[in-house]
Amino acid sequence: MRYRDFHRESVANPDDFWRREAGRIHWQTPFDQVLDRSNPPFARWFCGGRTNLCFNAVDRHLPARAHQNALVYVSTETGIERRYTYADLHAEVNRMAAVMRSLGVKRGQRVLIYLPMIPEAVFAVLACARLGAIHSVVFGGFAAPSLAARIDDAKPVLLVSADAGARGGKVIDYTPLVDEAMARAEYAPPKVLLIDRQLAPERLNAPYLVDYEPLREQHYDVQVPCEWLESNEPSYILYTSGTTGKPKGVQRDVGGYAVALAASMEYIFEGRAGDTLFTASDIGWVVGHSYIIYAPLLAGMTTVMYEGTPVRPDGGIWWRLVEQHRINLMFTAPTAIRVLKKQDPALLRSADLSSLRTLFLAGEPLDEPTAEWISAALGKPVVDNYWQTETGWPMLAIQRGVEPLPQKLGSPGVPCYGYDLVLRNEHTGEPCAQGEKGVITLSYPLPPGCMQTVWGDDARFVKTYWESVPGQPVYSTFDWGVQDSDGYVTILGRTDDVINVAGHRLGTREIEEAISSHAAVAEVAVVGVNDAVKGQAALAFVVLRDAGGAASPADAQTLAASLAATVDRQLGAIGRPARVHFVPMLPKTRSGKLLRRAIAALAEGRDPGDLPTIEDASALQSIREAVSAGDS
Ligand code: PRX
Repeated sequence: MRYRDFHRESVANPDDFWRREAGRIHWQTPFDQVLDRSNPPFARWFCGGRTNLCFNAVDRHLPARAHQNALVYVSTETGIERRYTYADLHAEVNRMAAVMRSLGVKRGQRVLIYLPMIPEAVFAVLACARLGAIHSVVFGGFAAPSLAARIDDAKPVLLVSADAGARGGKVIDYTPLVDEAMARAEYAPPKVLLIDRQLAPERLNAPYLVDYEPLREQHYDVQVPCEWLESNEPSYILYTSGTTGKPKGVQRDVGGYAVALAASMEYIFEGRAGDTLFTASDIGWVVGHSYIIYAPLLAGMTTVMYEGTPVRPDGGIWWRLVEQHRINLMFTAPTAIRVLKKQDPALLRSADLSSLRTLFLAGEPLDEPTAEWISAALGKPVVDNYWQTETGWPMLAIQRGVEPLPQKLGSPGVPCYGYDLVLRNEHTGEPCAQGEKGVITLSYPLPPGCMQTVWGDDARFVKTYWESVPGQPVYSTFDWGVQDSDGYVTILGRTDDVINVAGHRLGTREIEEAISSHAAVAEVAVVGVNDAVKGQAALAFVVLRDAGGAASPADAQTLAASLAATVDRQLGAIGRPARVHFVPMLPKTRSGKLLRRAIAALAEGRDPGDLPTIEDASALQSIREAVSAGDS
């Protein structure tokens, strides 16, 4: 079918469109209404239908695919490689579900998963789905205070963690972090289920820690039935950054998510049952939830889960994985490709990549040189796709399974079916003319699979996402874009204070809060600036309480290191600014608002534009001086 008609039908007639797509999954009880629009901006999909994500991802494939690999696990950190068929996966998920149930986990309760990239993370997620419990995976790179904040918001009955993670050959002990988070949290769960990888040199032995392995043995043959959930019951919470320092718990449903992912596998990814997909991301991010765990399994594919970096033991590791595991589809972030571009091209050429059909890239802008390089090097289609934690699956892409429209460099493509995507003028809320820069918005209702609400805070969901475009009750993505006459959209950056470092979404406010907790700091502004490899890098401009505190270069260096350590402790190393500049004051408006965009412009050597209401123009000069001194 032609893309245009397909897309038009999906937004003009969502009931018929999604009723058809719903046939991709098993419904224990059929739904009696496709879409309930009675309470906008909330939308409920497949009302009355009962289903289960774990059943659809695992049990349903047993008759035809029990002996096909479901999960292939490769860790270049530990040298471990494991394969789990659908039958093995079924058994492991049942064991994990039985253990969780023995620890009191029930339908509707939350389980927080703070794990490195190990197979047990997949088992834990699917075990929650099986029990009807709501998982909340917290990225393993987050520090104890971030973990504690998520514990307090989700109020889990159980935390699942491990003795340690590993990255780039370095072991990161988790138990001290968990211990600190448990001490900080008001709603600390009574038990922490611990996967002991025997990686940490010294493991904590707190009374709340329960070892998984003996419990797994005890529950080795226990079968746990799937809880049949109403389609709109929550399946998970995934925290993401926004403008404030407090992360939002993106809440997703069960049925809509299952249908949306299953459909995306065909129309966007062209994945078929029996194919192998390697998504190089982390289970702590949305790409991991959707395209390491749920979508490939829903589609009866083999998913490859990888612990390690793209350059260890050398820059050919991913290409060798493609060859060894006959990988058909690969998905990662542009940063990884920029990293690989710097490696010896022979590493790519020497691998047999004949199994690979398509490479998918998402999470941050795909710059043209990187797109050109990787397309030429692979000789296969490279499909940029644009989406967010909130949407759960792509909003913009060339949907090759619908119609392989030509790619245009610099654009992730055209709106995906289901999304009524409109660029709007930020002041008037009216649709933009072709070529006019505007805010990327989605009209009501959001298609299946998108966020239902902010966990525990419907008002925040409405206010944040649906009331920020003047006069229009539409969903704001907080991204700028521009659309051409063929409907292709180019992304022009965020409208808010969110930055994107190496494909990781970070709130500058969260980093500022971490830095402000340092005793020497009076004020701080964090901005994102262009970075050749990571897309963006965080820069911190710090005003000290004691103006002479960073008088000598040595003092400044010591202080910058101490601020970096504070960020590591408060937020995690991913939030650490690339550079810290000490300045006498920060540019603000007369009413005291920080002029972050002006700071970012100056830091990138651009003209900050008109700033009529600036409080003290010399603050701009001090930013300029700090940046040029730092560059020298
Ligand atoms: O600014 C957009 C950018 O990443 C944000 C969403 O990040 P996250 O919630 O982590 O979800 C990532 C899911 C892939 C968006 O608001 N972004 C994502 N994909 C692209 C992108 N920017 C440009 N091009 C993309 N393909």
